[in-house]
Amino acid sequence: MKIEFYLNSHLVVVDVDPMQSLLHTLRGTMSHTATKEGCGEGECGACSVLFNDRLVNACMMPISQVQGGDVMTLEGLRQTEKGQCVINALLEAKGVQCGFCTPGMVLALYALLEADPNPTELAIRTAISGNLCRCTGYGMIVEAAKIAAEKGEGLW
Ligand code: FES
Ligand code: FES
Repeated sequence: MKIEFYLNSHLVVVDVDPMQSLLHTLRGTMSHTATKEGCGEGECGACSVLFNDRLVNACMMPISQVQGGDVMTLEGLRQTEKGQCVINALLEAKGVQCGFCTPGMVLALYALLEADPNPTELAIRTAISGNLCRCTGYGMIVEAAKIAAEKGEGLW
């Protein structure tokens, strides 16, 4: 089945099984590998992308649901000033150890700051509660959110 959608602001068409997940379409069919697969069942947030400006787990979304919609992945987000602001804040706070959960964290922090440019610590922790990280601890990621809010003042 042909599915047409916007991927990082470019119109794309893929011919795939309509029940194949958005995650496997991105990684396997389209070689967009920034989005990671952790659990494959909606629990870890490694596959987070924005769909129509909402944070979703790409592993849980059949590609047929994406028809006509707008998907943003880390490949697209890192080309933007806001995406770079979040990435730089994570680097500054040393909130990155492995590359596995980090793409999802970037998307989650971006979605948070878009909705709330000055989030409280509780709001930050709530926003990343669906993103599991086994190695770095969440303190530095929370710090990164604060840095991105402060350094991105006027951007969000
Ligand atoms: S891979 Fe999608 S939530 Fe874990
Ligand atoms: S830095 Fe997130 S799982 Fe390792």
